[in-house]
Amino acid sequence: MSQTVGGINQLRFSNDVLQEVSEMVSWRRQLHSIPELSFQENETTSFILDKLNSIPGLTVKRPCPTGAIAVLRGTAKPSNDKKAEAAEPRCILLRADIDALPITESNHLPFCSRHAGVMHACGHDGHTAMMLAAAKLLAAQRSRLYGEVRFLFQHAEELPPGGAAELMKAGVMNGVDELYGMHLSSSFPTGTFGVREGALTSATDRFEIRIIGKGGHSAFPETTIDPIVITGQLIGALQTIVSRQIRAVEPAVVSVCQIQAGRAYNIIPDEAQLIGSTRTFSAETRKRLPAIMEREAHGLCEASGATCQFQFTHGYASVINDRALTAECKNLIQRSFGDQAVLDIEPLMPGEDYSALQESGCPGFFVELGARNEAMGITAPHHNANYLMDEEAMTYGLQYWVNLVQNRLSFHS
Ligand code: NI
Repeated sequence: MSQTVGGINQLRFSNDVLQEVSEMVSWRRQLHSIPELSFQENETTSFILDKLNSIPGLTVKRPCPTGAIAVLRGTAKPSNDKKAEAAEPRCILLRADIDALPITESNHLPFCSRHAGVMHACGHDGHTAMMLAAAKLLAAQRSRLYGEVRFLFQHAEELPPGGAAELMKAGVMNGVDELYGMHLSSSFPTGTFGVREGALTSATDRFEIRIIGKGGHSAFPETTIDPIVITGQLIGALQTIVSRQIRAVEPAVVSVCQIQAGRAYNIIPDEAQLIGSTRTFSAETRKRLPAIMEREAHGLCEASGATCQFQFTHGYASVINDRALTAECKNLIQRSFGDQAVLDIEPLMPGEDYSALQESGCPGFFVELGARNEAMGITAPHHNANYLMDEEAMTYGLQYWVNLVQNRLSFHS
């Protein structure tokens, strides 16, 4: 018979996970009260280091000024008669992000943000607490683990160029065989896991186009090269790139979000500037799109006698879930929490800098952890001043991390 405590079906959770829950929630609340912006996570890093250093069996390092990594080496060895059939020990890396956002919290909670204008509005406090609890719990089981697990507490997910790229350079991915990530999600209910093979998040890039014409009196447009008219044409042209030059089955977005030109009602300006962002999923579309945009911009300017400068800056690449690991993890989630716990989800538009860790070529799987609870009124989206998470989701997240590590660090492949 299943026993339900606080809405949680106890049978899905191991005793060691259930024993860890109250401390994990308390850590999340402490972290929630001290949110820090990207690249400035000093208090948060001290908190993490303090907890990690108190856990026996972990080797703790600080590869960047903020953030941390804890390495756990399993001490299990296959017995002599089983050696031949044992797989090579794996090294896996689990990643949690730790930073907060420049938002003033509107929630009234006993553990609200104490830092003016900064808020954990994306759930990274929960990610950090789950990872700390997983490190503690798995360190106690190291005699049963075969291989190595690295717990990465990554700084600066919210601010490009992002902390993951720095950590890549610092070598945290060297020797890693498999990479795993998790993000709480207010789109999916607690107790569910959003799963997708292939491209999970969009690549988020930035463009800037400067149109240089020739200004003059508004009464004599024939003596000018009007950059505003060219801008109008260019906006239309940019919008037809997706519908006419990108395959219909390939999602892409081109958004012009800033336009700057002119200072008076009767003067045609010399220049105009358009700034915006693109979202793509496939590497091929991401590569093609800026070339098409630049050709359109140059073509239109040339036809009018203007010149143009085109700048395209890469932001975060798409998170790509490996086919085999997605199947493995989907199966693991179903075995752990029941078939209904898996939601096959659509690609997600927000970017995620975990993708920088994938540049190592290492296969990975990133899961969306449901933390929405309609009955409790927990529905506000991420990056919102009213964002809340259902803390019960963290028990699912912790059990997932533990089951995943036990599964990947076993003798058999
Ligand atoms: Ni986030």
